[in-house]
Amino acid sequence: MDRIEGIGACVFDAYGTLFDVHAAAARCAEDLGDNAGPLSAMWRTKQLEYTWLRSLMNDYKPVWEVTKDGLDFAMGALGLSSPELREKLLSLYWELAPYPEVPSVLARLRDGGFKTAILSNGSPDMLRGAVESAGLGALLDDVRSVADVGTFKPDPKVYQLSVDALDVEPGGICFVSANGWDAHGAAHFGFQVVWVNRF
Ligand code: LAC
Repeated sequence: MDRIEGIGACVFDAYGTLFDVHAAAARCAEDLGDNAGPLSAMWRTKQLEYTWLRSLMNDYKPVWEVTKDGLDFAMGALGLSSPELREKLLSLYWELAPYPEVPSVLARLRDGGFKTAILSNGSPDMLRGAVESAGLGALLDDVRSVADVGTFKPDPKVYQLSVDALDVEPGGICFVSANGWDAHGAAHFGFQVVWVNRF
């Protein structure tokens, strides 16, 4: 493994990296049965595809709206029509569980003198909900949303947000993401990147 040197800040992607995007459907396993896995996978895929399309079309809308659009597509494709289930899945998305190692990793990085931050497609209120429900607030120097630039990853304008917020040059930022396309976008921008293999 290559050694990463000269780092001042560690910036984390949120969904899929710190927070388990499949936790909402998993908590509805009784309602969803065998559809839990397929629904969750399609929901996530459509949500991401819609962000990429909206960036390309220059037609930003907050990711919460995109998240609802993705869920509606996935429920429709699987023949699921319950409004109650839709509401339940959406409300659980505001309190997605963090992966178990997340609090201790953030604490160790801060003890080691690194700034820690989130840079995410999530809207500020969604990120606040996720960070608060996971109890991570005191472990983060900055929680930054693409809402500040009105487009989505992997637009370079998004990655620039962390440079400006943390006052660390791109090469001094270690960007951590489980999303391969996000890791690639961040490396293209100039961050040093760690891809977390959650697969
Ligand atoms: C995010 C998405 C890409 O949190 O997972 O930015």
